[in-house]
Order: sequence, then C-alpha cells, then structure tokens
Amino acid sequence: MSAIPDIHEIRPADFSAVEALYPKAFPEEDLLPLVSALLRQGRDVISLVATLDGVLVGHIALTSCRIEGVTERIALLGPLAVTPEWQGRGIGGALIRDSLERLKDQGFSWVFVLGDPGYYGRFGFQPETHLLPPYEIPEEWRTGWQSIRLAGNKSAPGASLIVPPVWRNEALWRP
Ligand SMILES: CC(C)(COP(=O)(O)OP(=O)(O)OC[C@H]1O[C@@H](n2cnc3c(N)ncnc32)[C@H](O)[C@@H]1OP(=O)(O)O)[C@@H](O)C(=O)NCCC(=O)NCCS
Repeated sequence: MSAIPDIHEIRPADFSAVEALYPKAFPEEDLLPLVSALLRQGRDVISLVATLDGVLVGHIALTSCRIEGVTERIALLGPLAVTPEWQGRGIGGALIRDSLERLKDQGFSWVFVLGDPGYYGRFGFQPETHLLPPYEIPEEWRTGWQSIRLAGNKSAPGASLIVPPVWRNEALWRP
C-alpha cells in the first residue's frame, strides 16, 4: 500500500537521520562523505526529506550545475534514498515529483541523473545522448545517464556537465 509522506526542505535537525539513512539504503556503497558534504554545503543544493508521522523515511538532493555557454539553470539529481522498510510505497516517486516541481518553480529548466532508467524513466527522464557526464562512464551504464526538460526544448550541446567540487570524484560515477 502506498504511503503519503510529508515532504519538506531539510533542516539541520534532520542531518543525523539522513546520515543514518544512507548506509541502510546503500549497504554496499559509501555515500556518506558525499551526503554529508551536500548537507553542509547548503548553497546550490536542494535537499528534501520525506517523513511519516514525524519519522524520516527518505531523502533527495539536487545540485546546481553548469554547461559551458548555456545560461539555463541546470541541476543534477542525486543521491536519493528511501529507508528499506518503506521502499516500494511511492516515497521515492513522491520525492522526485516534488523536487522537480520545486526546481521548475525556481526557474530550473533541465535536470540530469545517473541512475536506473527503469526507475527514472517513470518520471519522464530520457537517455541523454548529447551532453556528457563529467567523467566517462562504462558502456553498460550509458543508458543510466538521463535528463528531463522542465522548460524549453533545446537539446544539449556536445559538451560535459560541469559539476561543483563535491561531485568531482570519479568514484561517484563508476558502478
Ligand atoms: C530506488 C529507491 C529510491 C526508490 O524509492 P521507493 O520509494 O522504493 O520507490 P517507489 O515506491 O517510488 O517506486 C517503486 C517502484 O519502482 C520500482 N523500482 C524501485 N527501484 C527500481 C530500480 N532500481 N529500477 C527499476 N524499478 C525500480 C519498484 O519495483 C516499484 O515498482 P512498482 O510500482 O511497479 O511496484 C529506493 O528503493 C531506494 O532507496 N533504494 C536503495 C537505494 C538506491 O538504489 N537508490 C537509487 C538512487 S539512484
């Protein structure tokens, strides 16, 4: 049965629950350094949490990025996590939809993600074939590099996404 979470912008009081969530949602990947850096950076990061009865069950981050010569506002989605006990109840989907609405309201016109196309395709993301990710990604992951247009219709130039320092770690872009 799906659950309807309350979604709000992260507050410092949520930091420790978010940091406890990631090792549970990603037991084989250490995303904690990235997540902690994103939480503390604040500027240029949209971070939302989903709660059920006041208990934190999900988190999503979106970071503002750039493309050389492009003036539109662009974001990178990730990471996204839902606590294992509550996965498959629509919470991840609610976080994605809510965050895309907020980005649109803030004038963002493009969002990129590296993730499972079977999942992100549900929300309108399509394989991105023009703009390259900041690091080369293995062939078997290529379809995971996706984008969604929130406004406008220009296709991306054949350049690379320019990410802020927190995302400049090649290990984050490998399987
Ligand atoms: C991936 C994740 C964020 C999805 O959140 P969620 O709340 O469980 O997902 P939702 O309830 O919104 O959607 C569930 C649906 O997506 C499907 N789904 C979940 N993960 C999927 C994936 N990696 N690929 C394809 N489909 C997926 C489920 O099978 C389910 O399908 P159904 O509606 O037909 O039953 C969550 O499961 C999670 O945190 N997983 C571990 C961490 C992770 O892999 N994060 C990915 C970030 S790139």
